[in-house]
Amino acid sequence: LFTRQMPGDRFREQTDPVLQLEKINVNFDGFQALTDLSLNISVGELRCIIGPNGAGKTTLMDVITGKTRPQSGRAIYDQSTDLTTLDPIAIARQGIGRKFQKPTVFEALTVEENLELALKNDKSVWGALRARLSGEQRDRIDEVLALLRLGNERARRAGLLSHGQKQFLEIGMLLVQEPHLLLLDEPAAGMTDAET
Ligand SMILES: Nc1ncnc2c1ncn2[C@@H]1O[C@H](COP(=O)(O)OP(=O)(O)OP(=O)(O)O)[C@@H](O)[C@H]1O
Ligand SMILES: [Mg+2]
Repeated sequence: LFTRQMPGDRFREQTDPVLQLEKINVNFDGFQALTDLSLNISVGELRCIIGPNGAGKTTLMDVITGKTRPQSGRAIYDQSTDLTTLDPIAIARQGIGRKFQKPTVFEALTVEENLELALKNDKSVWGALRARLSGEQRDRIDEVLALLRLGNERARRAGLLSHGQKQFLEIGMLLVQEPHLLLLDEPAAGMTDAET
């Protein structure tokens, strides 16, 4: 696994770490998927992790989000919490958002409804759709729709979007929640060059 610093990463040296992975080891029934993986990510930093199929990229995200528990090592978030001691729901509540490789939007709902649900994800689907949004939340949805160029699609059913637009929408569902740390697994998979 290699990590790459991206251009424009100018705050890297000045900011505190948001995530510190220390000697993470993951073993699946004798198969060593991650070996002594250490990695620091700073506030405001964009980091890309590249590696061939099976290198352990998804496993790394599974460790950070609590889906996989490492055999050893620590994942210190915001210099205080060890994520390896928490379950996935508690980790999501700490402001860590994750986009999976395959888009998982609600296809029968409109683009806008998907974003509304993401903002009110502590309620049941129908309860959340009935709950009123604050003006601030409305503004946030408008902002994200403009950012992802989905403004003209807001009333469209998500199932009718192109694959790339579904990926954008799923990223939008994370952005409206204003995550502190955002993990994207293969965000450009299946996208056109322009969409990427
Ligand atoms: N739950 C599991 N049980 C057993 N082996 C697993 C499990 N999850 C992942 N692996 C193995 O661990 C290795 C790393 O897999 P992982 O999915 O993290 O790779 P990746 O870098 O995300 O690959 P890709 O580019 O194909 O998405 C692979 O050899 C995979 O088969
Ligand atoms: Mg993967």
